[in-house]
Amino acid sequence: MSVYARIRGTGSHLPERVVTNEELERLVETSDRWIRERTGIAQRHVVADGETCGDIATRAAEAAMEAAGVGPGDIDLLILATSTPDQVFPSTACLIQHRLGIPGGAIAFDIAAACSGFIYALDAADRFIRTGGARRALVIGAETFSRILNWEDRGTCVLFGDGAGAVILEADETPGVLSTHLHSDGRQEPLLNVPWGVSKGVEALMSDPASGKVTMRGNEVFKIAVRTLGAVVEETLAANGLERGDIDWLVPHQANIRIMAATARKLELPMDRVVVTVDRHGNTSAASIPLALDVAVRDGRIQPGQLLLLEAFGAGFTWGSALVRF
Ligand code: COA
Repeated sequence: MSVYARIRGTGSHLPERVVTNEELERLVETSDRWIRERTGIAQRHVVADGETCGDIATRAAEAAMEAAGVGPGDIDLLILATSTPDQVFPSTACLIQHRLGIPGGAIAFDIAAACSGFIYALDAADRFIRTGGARRALVIGAETFSRILNWEDRGTCVLFGDGAGAVILEADETPGVLSTHLHSDGRQEPLLNVPWGVSKGVEALMSDPASGKVTMRGNEVFKIAVRTLGAVVEETLAANGLERGDIDWLVPHQANIRIMAATARKLELPMDRVVVTVDRHGNTSAASIPLALDVAVRDGRIQPGQLLLLEAFGAGFTWGSALVRF
């Protein structure tokens, strides 16, 4: 008998502080109108002083566990997708394991695939479950991009926000995750990166503080993202023998409303079948898909049995998709 991974519950958490476009007008040469028209973003959430990725991830995980009706002792796999971990080591997943009281002996690790991180983590958890390596997985996407933004660069600081989303995946006889499709290509790394990392040493960061912040050639990334996401949704439909109109909900990575609209057009889906949270959350990188999923599950749009297409594109470049029967 085949074993599949099914989503049993979702949860999310947003930091309390909201930063509006008007507030950013006071920081950099920009306008509420430009940000809304070019990106679809009206506001984003930002962590408080001292609040970390692990803090908001833990809150999202608790909400997902409550929704799924499972306790810490039920979880044997925890994967956190993030590019903004709390410490160099141990993994933030291990810190969250301890905080949630998930028993010692479970598997916990982080995945770094930038904005595609949640799709990568979902793929990994699905493989663990289907091959019998785990029965119940907590999969989290959480980011504190506000810590790695150059608040003087109007081309990036208006785009991102902080947040966390989580799902509980469980072994089941009926299919949940139907297929996942992951890809990477490191050749265009300079188009989107944070060029500093710990292996370069803290001294390198101190002599060039800007190297610890996000840099992006937005217009070039935009064009590649639209083309690449179009291809990966085609790949997903073909792998499952589906037609364009067969998808109930597109739950895309929330980078830019114009990128999402282009993918929806490719799928011949009206925009009211696309879960959009970029207006309120901005781009929360690895957190954006589980956040959007949780919003649409809790407001009743996404119903059991429906077919969801999740897709993301991010630094690396990395990109991927997942077809899920909810
Ligand atoms: N406010 C006002 N003007 C701004 C601005 C801001 N916040 N940011 C950039 N501009 C200006 C630019 O300086 C440029 O001015 P110029 O024509 O005088 O040189 C002009 O707006 C157009 O810039 P451009 O970068 O070509 O705009 P765009 O239409 O491509 O939109 C992004 C910019 C960043 C919104 C868009 O490119 C984008 O969303 N990129 C992809 C993001 C993404 O998917 N990332 C990957 C996943 S994380």
